[in-house]
Amino acid sequence: MMARTPLFAGNWKMHKNVKETVDFLDAFLPMAKGISSEIAFCPPFTSLWAAAEKIRGSGIKLGAQNMHWEDKGAFTGEISPLMLKEIPCDYVIIGHSERRQYFAETDETVNKKVKSAIKYGITPIICVGESLEQREKGKTLSVVLNQVEKALFEVEIKDGCDLVFAYEPIWAIGTGKVASPSDAQEVIGAIRKKLSQLYGEKLSQRIRILYGGSVKPENIKELMAQPDIDGALVGGASLDAKTFYKIASYES
Ligand code: PGA
Repeated sequence: MMARTPLFAGNWKMHKNVKETVDFLDAFLPMAKGISSEIAFCPPFTSLWAAAEKIRGSGIKLGAQNMHWEDKGAFTGEISPLMLKEIPCDYVIIGHSERRQYFAETDETVNKKVKSAIKYGITPIICVGESLEQREKGKTLSVVLNQVEKALFEVEIKDGCDLVFAYEPIWAIGTGKVASPSDAQEVIGAIRKKLSQLYGEKLSQRIRILYGGSVKPENIKELMAQPDIDGALVGGASLDAKTFYKIASYES
């Protein structure tokens, strides 16, 4: 099996203005040299440019938290993939549960955005995950695999590096309740199996699947010990440089 490089992505959500972004990176960049995993930060749109200037040459990647699927047009308030390319952004988070819940993101819009991101060479981090109610009714796998299938409707991939998944149980986001490593592995293993049905075993082994939801320095090691978990999408704990460093260097 080909080794997948772990990815730790910080989802800053609606936190950190330009100054706070620069201050964070000033603190984080010297620490980053000791990290062998890939690191990406996803600041708000208004801080992307400043972050890009700061990380140039460091090997750290940048991502946006959302985008429109069209390259331009009369879409007030939206940001296009070409605008993200210009920054440049390597990644874009697509279909985060907060966007599905508060901003009418659907499996269909997720699918359009995934296609567009891949077309423009931005790697989508596609978020899927079940609610507490769905989990309690035993529907976790059917809900999550259905989201995966819909996100990938008519999506062609080249080498498996063109997309990343993040399994984020909604009940674990920002709540302090982390999924148990074996529960996370069960769902992430099932996602990989679905990817293997869609794209074949070889490509499925190259696609990275992250866990997200209350990841902290205290729980990352056990999560990373699971065979199919390839890193984390980190919200709250990515806002502090030292804490995020501890998560991303779990192995050292
Ligand atoms: P959290 O958020 O780490 O604060 O739980 C994760 C996310 O929403 O991506």
